[in-house]
Amino acid sequence: MTISEDEISGAAALLRAGKLVAFPTETVYGLGADATQDAAVVAVFAAKGRPKFNPLISHVADAGKAVALGKFNAEAHKLAEAYWPGPLTLVVPRTAHCPVSLLASAGLASIALRVPSHPIALALLRRADRPIVAPSANPSGGISPTLASHVVSGLGSSVAMVLDGGACTIGIESTVIKCMGGEPVLLRPGGLKKSDIEAVLGKKLLIEAMKAGRPDAPGQLEQHYAPRAKVILDVVWPRFDVGLLAFGPKVPRHPGPVLNLSDRGDLKEAAANLFRMMHELDEAGVQTIAVMPIPNEGLGEAINDRLIRAAAPFHR
Ligand code: TXA
Ligand code: MG
Repeated sequence: MTISEDEISGAAALLRAGKLVAFPTETVYGLGADATQDAAVVAVFAAKGRPKFNPLISHVADAGKAVALGKFNAEAHKLAEAYWPGPLTLVVPRTAHCPVSLLASAGLASIALRVPSHPIALALLRRADRPIVAPSANPSGGISPTLASHVVSGLGSSVAMVLDGGACTIGIESTVIKCMGGEPVLLRPGGLKKSDIEAVLGKKLLIEAMKAGRPDAPGQLEQHYAPRAKVILDVVWPRFDVGLLAFGPKVPRHPGPVLNLSDRGDLKEAAANLFRMMHELDEAGVQTIAVMPIPNEGLGEAINDRLIRAAAPFHR
């Protein structure tokens, strides 16, 4: 999927004018806005129906720009060096003169920063020449988009432009790590393997399971990444009337719709397929999506994190 220079400069001009532009990253599509304009940041929360206490990630074109916005300790530097550009988000203290809207930090003294590796995202960030907030481009609580068509069906008219970069290769959001002094904390498992990160740091990560979108209140799980259908997990013998989200070579015979995350049992492939297949089973109109067991290792940790939240009881 190629995008012309004209489209990139058109998208950058819209961002600078305070409009919303959806763009591909290697993880999922982001709903972009100029991070330095309060009104543009407010428009992102409004378009997603996102609670204002859930802060946004600011995206920049390189690590040099990130260190002007946040204070990096030795561990944050190490991680940025190892993984940027790529599927890593660092939560660090804001610098004194950080130009990013305080609304993006939702009242916290921290800022979340990421340098994505997708060439379209990088070209857009360079051209816009300012930090761009970009949550996943889906209505709050829903399934994240890994195709441009997901963005159009989910957010449609609230977006001025959608840059279509085809399917996102990683397919699951960035790993979020908090480096706020003290030991580094894993806030969200994502596109990087925890064991690899721990090898880079030479120590174990602390783990803080945040309540859906409430980084200051860890603990209780709320529904997120949720399709319209009900989601049930670790299913070995599916009922006849469910949509089956399978994994691996041994799939029970099933009369209803079946999509296999990876028939060779590859977790990377499964991550890349996860959200698209959840979208597709939802569109097939099943009442229930039954998910086969996914090993909880490597990228399986991020996949299971999303599935557990998709299956969590709904309360708002
Ligand atoms: O892969 C990704 O990270 C995608 C692409 C578009 O870059 N973006 C994304 O954004 O997933 P979003 O808004 O859907 O998720 C951002 C997560 C949320 O869980 C939010 O609570 C957390 O990052 N977060 C943002 N700022 C934070 C902060 N200052 N402290 C703690 N958590 C923060
Ligand atoms: Mg999201």
